[in-house]
Amino acid sequence: MVDHNEINTIGVLTSGGDAPGMNAAIRAVVRTALAKGLTVRGIRRGYHGLLREEIIDMSGRDVADTIQRGGTILQTARSQQMRTPEGQLKAASILKKYGIQALVVIGGDGSFAGAQKLSDYGINVIGIPGTIDLDIACTEYTIGFDTAANTAMEAIDKIRDTSTSHERCSIVEVMGRDAGYLALWCGIANGAEYILMPEQHGYDEQLMIDDIIKNRKRGKKHYIIINAEGVGDSINMAKRIEEATGVETRATILGHLQRGGSPTVKDRVYASIMGAKAVDLIVEGKTNRVVGFRDGHYIDFDINDALKMNKEIPEYQLEIAKIL
Ligand code: F6P
Repeated sequence: MVDHNEINTIGVLTSGGDAPGMNAAIRAVVRTALAKGLTVRGIRRGYHGLLREEIIDMSGRDVADTIQRGGTILQTARSQQMRTPEGQLKAASILKKYGIQALVVIGGDGSFAGAQKLSDYGINVIGIPGTIDLDIACTEYTIGFDTAANTAMEAIDKIRDTSTSHERCSIVEVMGRDAGYLALWCGIANGAEYILMPEQHGYDEQLMIDDIIKNRKRGKKHYIIINAEGVGDSINMAKRIEEATGVETRATILGHLQRGGSPTVKDRVYASIMGAKAVDLIVEGKTNRVVGFRDGHYIDFDINDALKMNKEIPEYQLEIAKIL
């Protein structure tokens, strides 16, 4: 086992889907660690790169001019091999070979699951939540969500302009994998008529159709439906709605544009604080934690506990969305 009070070398990687603000987190990890006398190794391309020993030493200058950039300077990947016991064992032995006693993993739940496995092999792991999906249970905030929500909101405002001019119904599909947070936030921020989320387990299309017909009779010029990726089927949904209502309907799938772009102030600052906190935890001798933000405070949880938690869409926000 590693003596956590004697940690002198840490690693940092980004894994899974990239998210704006990841660079701010990497920068904070690197600079905080260097300030505290630690050596920092960057691992390129997430676990995939770790298994190929893509490991570089990082200096403070390597992270200069990065806080404002989208994406991740360390690159990222999804690794099938890391899901296997052989891959996990190999990853842990590579980390040990490079003298990396603690690893900071910036990513989502899947990335944390990989980190949890590494902890079984004696690597101290610290997770920083980085995903535009906001679907990590132990935290109210994940790096990238704010930027992605703002990007989607601006795009939907533009769709609304043309939708109004043509008096159409627009279905806009936003990302989020199995979670509806982006859809809910955009639904509220863009004043959508309907929000479809996977957490609601199905929806009543006839109700929507009746509502569109009723609204058209009242002279409403547009009808915006925000559809979460986890519900999907936007193109066919548009065809069905047009046929049933007689209202021209278009579907737009926003896709990967939601993952890019310069991070907002919120993403930069939260990511910087979380990055610094991850290093502080290592220096304090804490092991196997996930950093988060809850009830106005930056917090940390045991990684095993964090991965067991369930996240639910706040009922009150859903109610508000319906009323507004
Ligand atoms: O987890 C982030 C995310 O953008 C999800 O919203 C989406 O389902 C997925 O990644 C897309 O992954 P990929 O870029 O590998 O297609």
